[in-house]
Amino acid sequence: MRPPKAKSAAPRIAHYASARANQLALAAMRAEILGCVRCEALVRCRSRVVPGAGATPAAIAFVGLAPGRLGADRTGIPFTGDRSGVLLRRMIGHARLGRVFITNLVRCNPRDALGRNRDPAPDEIANCRPHLEAELALARPRIVACLGRVSWRAMAGPDVPFDPRARLTIERGGTILYAMYHPAYVNRGAYPLKTYARDFIRLRRLAAPRRRRLALDVAISCSGAAG
Ligand code: URA
Repeated sequence: MRPPKAKSAAPRIAHYASARANQLALAAMRAEILGCVRCEALVRCRSRVVPGAGATPAAIAFVGLAPGRLGADRTGIPFTGDRSGVLLRRMIGHARLGRVFITNLVRCNPRDALGRNRDPAPDEIANCRPHLEAELALARPRIVACLGRVSWRAMAGPDVPFDPRARLTIERGGTILYAMYHPAYVNRGAYPLKTYARDFIRLRRLAAPRRRRLALDVAISCSGAAG
């Protein structure tokens, strides 16, 4: 009888090598972003630069507006430390979205003369665009969920209407863009929380095509039966 074939280690080695290369690229990109001084006004008002964070590669990337004064500008992590961050992360958990990357159009907190949050100016969004593109190139998400009208316009183009109620998706260069309200809009009571939660479930369905979802559901019910 022939001895069983030894399993090749090549795929595992290739996997670790590519994970390591990914980590190195991520660290280099972070260093470049952290040293950015492209926007004079933002360099003056930011407490820190806030690069995107999360899984690389990612299934879904969320793109918000800019770090908030009370949140990411203090913590250094997008969508943490403020009400928008709490809601976004609660929705991600509720929909059981795995492998997400979270970032913003702009990586510094924009403030007005009174020290309040303001929207980033078009030239600030444009200056930060190469950082966003670099992050998305590393995260390679299948879906980019655009949080709010400004994010949607920047990603989809100014002529595509922003209408999350229409559950709009469009495709850009092989990536699906999904229009969603910004969590701050929901926190203001302008959009029902229940409907927002459903939008995240729909996002999960988009990220996991039907065949994979069935396999996932089977795996979940089997582990439930065993435990
Ligand atoms: N925090 C972020 O990081 N981005 C936003 O758009 C809002 C809060």
